[in-house]
Amino acid sequence: MHTVLITGGAGFIGQNLVHAWRDARPSDRLVVIDAMTYAANLRSLEPLIAERSIAFVRGDINDAALIRALFDEHRFTRVAHLAAESHVDRSIDDPEAFLQTNVLGTFTLLKSALDHWREAALLDRSRFLHVSTDEVYGSLGLDDPAFTEASPYRPNSPYAASKASSDHLVRSFVATYGMPALITNCSNNYGPYQHPEKLIPLMIIHALEGKPLPIYGDGSNVRDWLHVSAHCEALINVIERGRVGETYNIGGGNERNNRDVVGLICDTIDRAFVADSGLSARFPACPAASGKACRSLISFVTDRPGHDHRYAIDARKLESELGSRSHVDFSDGIGRTVHWYLDHEPWWRDITSGAYEAWIDRNYGARSVIQAKNLRA
Ligand code: NAD
Ligand code: TYD
Repeated sequence: MHTVLITGGAGFIGQNLVHAWRDARPSDRLVVIDAMTYAANLRSLEPLIAERSIAFVRGDINDAALIRALFDEHRFTRVAHLAAESHVDRSIDDPEAFLQTNVLGTFTLLKSALDHWREAALLDRSRFLHVSTDEVYGSLGLDDPAFTEASPYRPNSPYAASKASSDHLVRSFVATYGMPALITNCSNNYGPYQHPEKLIPLMIIHALEGKPLPIYGDGSNVRDWLHVSAHCEALINVIERGRVGETYNIGGGNERNNRDVVGLICDTIDRAFVADSGLSARFPACPAASGKACRSLISFVTDRPGHDHRYAIDARKLESELGSRSHVDFSDGIGRTVHWYLDHEPWWRDITSGAYEAWIDRNYGARSVIQAKNLRA
């Protein structure tokens, strides 16, 4: 049995991980810390907090005194570190918070964990899992082999650079202080609880509301999409069974360009409206409500500066060492995700007002429409 600190547990992957951990290891005690930034949402954790099956602390990982007090109180032997600023477009707009949380916050957490584990003689039985991204490796050409754990670091956005810096700090703590840490570098996740400003939920919600679907550039950029449930399963596997000091890449084995992803979302929504006549009354502005194709909303807009062309993950190390191979078929995963957003309208309505609208204006207002076109299936 372990007492586990999950940082960023009110974020997208964090919430999914809390639920997955409870299911996989019910005897562990979970403590979530989250600063409750714009990206956080406690709704799915509130029942667990109310029944005291997890503890929640609203706090900042940069607060060294708080982090140290939590270690002294709970004597964590597992840390799953997910707290981060995570949106590339926001890092382009205003990179400072990315350095503060992703670099300095990770340092504060590493130092507090190391000090506590040394003083409490817990180094041998403890593990620190640093959850990172494939974006640290930079961009691939269409014919390049996928990223392995030996690929050089070539971050292109302030977000990727901040995550790369944090990976280097973790590595240095392993080599210098014998920190029992592991790193995972994962591809793009999708699924329940993802914040509506990331690609997949943004497109679902905009389509339901009849708003333009803004694809950056020509939409040929490729991502390796991974369902968040498969990611969480791999994270628990790595922290329990991975080799300390190692890095493991986690991917979906599922490369798609953005045009195809958005097209699939549109077609999935069109079909959902045919199957459920009640949806037209709930979402009258959606083209599908009047029998039209959601693809008619697609609009190509000014590209993201420094936009990485392609990410792809070679996950053979994870599969061969740890047998991790969970796979969710992409069409099936998108179908489930569309239905999750249809079934959780109050969840996203809470978020898509006020500060969210301000972000949409800021990020998309200055982009010109290159071409609006109806992509045929
Ligand atoms: P997210 O933005 O949805 O959630 C991040 C959470 O961290 C939020 O709840 C936020 O409030 C919290 N947080 C931010 N700053 C904090 C601070 N200073 N102190 C405490 N909490 C703070 O992000 P996500 O998509 O869930 O990503 C989680 C982790 O996984 C990140 O480290 C990210 O780099 C990594 N990752 C994400 C993806 C992806 O596709 N989403 C892919 C690979 C790796
Ligand atoms: P995103 O979810 O921001 O993840 P990342 O950039 O970290 O991979 O974006 C995924 C892809 O979708 C990326 O190539 C940028 C593109 N994109 C759009 O075309 N339009 C959008 O409105 C957004 C948010 C992203």
